[in-house]
Amino acid sequence: MYEDSYNNMFDLNGKVALITGSSKGIGLAIAWQMARSGASVVISSRKKEACDKVCSDINEKGFSAVSIPCNVGVKQDIEDLVAKTNTSFGNVDILVCNAATNPVFGSLSEMPDDAFEKLVKVNIHSTLWLSKLVVPQMIENGGGSIILLSSIAAIRGNAFIGGYGMTKAAESALARNLAVEFGHANVRVNAISPGLVKTDFAKALWNDPVYRKKQETATPLRRIGLPEDIAGVAHFLAAPASAYLTGQSLVVDGGETISSL
Ligand SMILES: NC(=O)c1ccc[n+]([C@@H]2O[C@H](COP(=O)([O-])OP(=O)(O)OC[C@H]3O[C@@H](n4cnc5c(N)ncnc54)[C@H](OP(=O)(O)O)[C@@H]3O)[C@@H](O)[C@H]2O)c1
Repeated sequence: MYEDSYNNMFDLNGKVALITGSSKGIGLAIAWQMARSGASVVISSRKKEACDKVCSDINEKGFSAVSIPCNVGVKQDIEDLVAKTNTSFGNVDILVCNAATNPVFGSLSEMPDDAFEKLVKVNIHSTLWLSKLVVPQMIENGGGSIILLSSIAAIRGNAFIGGYGMTKAAESALARNLAVEFGHANVRVNAISPGLVKTDFAKALWNDPVYRKKQETATPLRRIGLPEDIAGVAHFLAAPASAYLTGQSLVVDGGETISSL
C-alpha cells in the first residue's frame, strides 16, 4: 500500500510560501530551504533593498522568489502583501509568521504602554491579520500550512523579556485555536519554539562569551542554534511529511528546556 504514499514527503513543488521577516536570520534560512524544495517564496521585511537582494540571490540560483516589502505592524501593509502575493503567484499554501520585535528589556512593572502595544501589534495582531487573509485561500486550495514563530520564552518565566514572552505564548495559543477551527478544511497550524539562535535578534546574548559558555554548557547538544536548524523544522511543518500534525508547538532548543544540566 505504501507505494501510493506521497512520492516525496518533503516536496514543495507548486506551493506558494509567504514568509515574513525573510530578509535575514531565521526567516531567510526558511525562505532558502523552501525555495530549494520547490516552493515559490515571498521575501518580505520592512527594508525593500534587503528583500530585493535576497530575492535576486534566490532567483539567480534558478529558484522562484518575489520581493514584497511590508511592515507587519501596519494592517494596510499586510493586506497589500497578500494581494501582491496573489498577483505574483496565486493563492498562498504556506504562511510563515516569523517577523517579530522586542522593543524593551527589564521589569514588566516598568514597561511603557506603547512598548506593550507595539509587541502586541507586531508579534500577535499581525499573525491574526495574515491568518484571516490566507485561510480562505488555503480552504479553496484544499488545505495549507501556517507556521508561527514562538519561542521557549513562551514556556518559561523571564525577568527581562516578560512582555515578549507573553506574545510568544499567544502565538502557541493561536496555533492551537486556528488548528481546531480550520482542521476540517485540512488547514494545519503549528508553532516553532526555538531556543537561543545565532541571529542579530539575539546577538547581545550569544556575543557575550560568558553567557554563551553558560548557555552551551546547559544545552545537551552543547551549542546554540543556527537559523538552518529552525528552517529544517519549518520545512517539515510545511510539507506532506507532517500531514497529520496540527496545533502543536515544537520546541527546537538543543534540549535546553528538558535538561537539568
Ligand atoms: N534568535 C533567537 O534566539 C530566537 C529565539 C526564539 C524565537 N525567535 C523568533 O524567531 C523569529 C525570527 O527572529 P530572528 O532571530 O531571525 O530575527 P532577525 O535576525 O532580527 O530577523 C528578523 C526579520 O524580521 C524583519 N522584521 C523585523 N520587524 C519587522 C516588522 N515590523 N515588519 C516586517 N518585518 C520585520 C527583519 O527585517 P527588517 O528589519 O528589514 O524589517 C528581519 O528580516 C522571531 O519571531 C523571533 O521572536 C528567535
